[in-house]
Amino acid sequence: MLNAKNILIGVTGSIAAYKIPILVRLLKKAGANVRIIMTESAKDFVTPLTLSTVSDNPVYSKFFKIETGEWNSHVTLAEWADLFLIAPLSANSMGKMVNGIVDNLLLTTYLSARSPVMFAPAMDLDMYKHPSTKKNIEILKSWGHIIIEPTEGELASGLCGAGRMEEPENIFSRIEEFFDDNSKLNGKKVLVTAGPTYEAIDPVRFIGNHSSGKMGFALAEELANNGAEVYLIAGPVSIETPSTVTKRIDVTNAEQMYQASIELFENMDIAIMSAAVADFTPEVKAEQKIKKGDTVPEIKLKPTTDILKTLGERKTEEQLLIGFALETENEVSNAVSKLKRKNLDFIVLNSTNDKGATFGVSTNKITIIDKFENAQAFDLKTKQEVAKDIVSKIESIL
Ligand code: CTP
Repeated sequence: MLNAKNILIGVTGSIAAYKIPILVRLLKKAGANVRIIMTESAKDFVTPLTLSTVSDNPVYSKFFKIETGEWNSHVTLAEWADLFLIAPLSANSMGKMVNGIVDNLLLTTYLSARSPVMFAPAMDLDMYKHPSTKKNIEILKSWGHIIIEPTEGELASGLCGAGRMEEPENIFSRIEEFFDDNSKLNGKKVLVTAGPTYEAIDPVRFIGNHSSGKMGFALAEELANNGAEVYLIAGPVSIETPSTVTKRIDVTNAEQMYQASIELFENMDIAIMSAAVADFTPEVKAEQKIKKGDTVPEIKLKPTTDILKTLGERKTEEQLLIGFALETENEVSNAVSKLKRKNLDFIVLNSTNDKGATFGVSTNKITIIDKFENAQAFDLKTKQEVAKDIVSKIESIL
């Protein structure tokens, strides 16, 4: 469940910082993205070079990149994180956190954090026992932060007692448990359709569209990363199945996608129809390749079944149904009318007027409109990031 999770680690000045490279390696091995902020005094215990090497990312400690004068945005870092772990957390930084003192990048990021915060104190025996430390820990816990209690053992001072930061393997397990316990999607069955459909004209020609399937596949992966059991119905695309997806069903045309969706839907908790399904299909498919002749052939079309609308008619109170709308004009009103017509919980709107959105590219720009017609517009992002926004919306409804 750590795959593709964004974990921000704040390292403060304590000898226990030597354990952080091991933790970072464990997280990276599990597929997580790791970024690190360190205080100046943390650099006395572990080097930024070690941490940037193991995390495969630059390490942040100053408000500005000295060379370019560019701002290291604490807001961007805080927004990026799915979890902010402060480990080791010294008594000094803990005191500042509790009192809203923000005299370094780690602390400004802490104050901007939107993600859950986990902290692993590390200090000497008597410092840990001091009433001010006890009080500060209670305050942090009362704010919903999760403590990884220090263990008892030999301390750097030579004293023996409580204050040793937990071992990296155990911190790793706590992070894993945290994501397992907190995912509202854990064990939920989700159907995702992705890609285009091809409607055959004859054995070699078809009516299709430019959908690459990237958005649907990114969604399937993100849902699976959050513990969902994902059933992915894919039109003709050349994308590898994410390893965490439970089952992929390949189809070619709208009718096959309809049949596969109907068969699965009843047992699903959630269905997300991101496929660009053809609205029309040739009335007859020519048995043989249509040859050039004296006249231009006329291909008579008939409508396909609207899969999403059919699912909307069958949907129970417990099921969530999400659709996509690709619009070229009057975007919001068209999307709202689709949302109502198809009985959806929310609709993800793309506009062809937005640069970097829609077909073929790796980015997307969406607006989510819910059944109460609340619209939330997002910035241009990678399809993986867009998938995270859509999954967060689903979790907020669950
Ligand atoms: N959809 C579907 N089955 C179809 C057509 C569309 O399930 N036969 C789904 C798509 O997967 C998408 C949503 O319906 O989630 C909206 O698709 P879109 O083509 O934009 O909407 P239409 O209802 O076909 O309206 P129009 O093409 O007129 O804009």
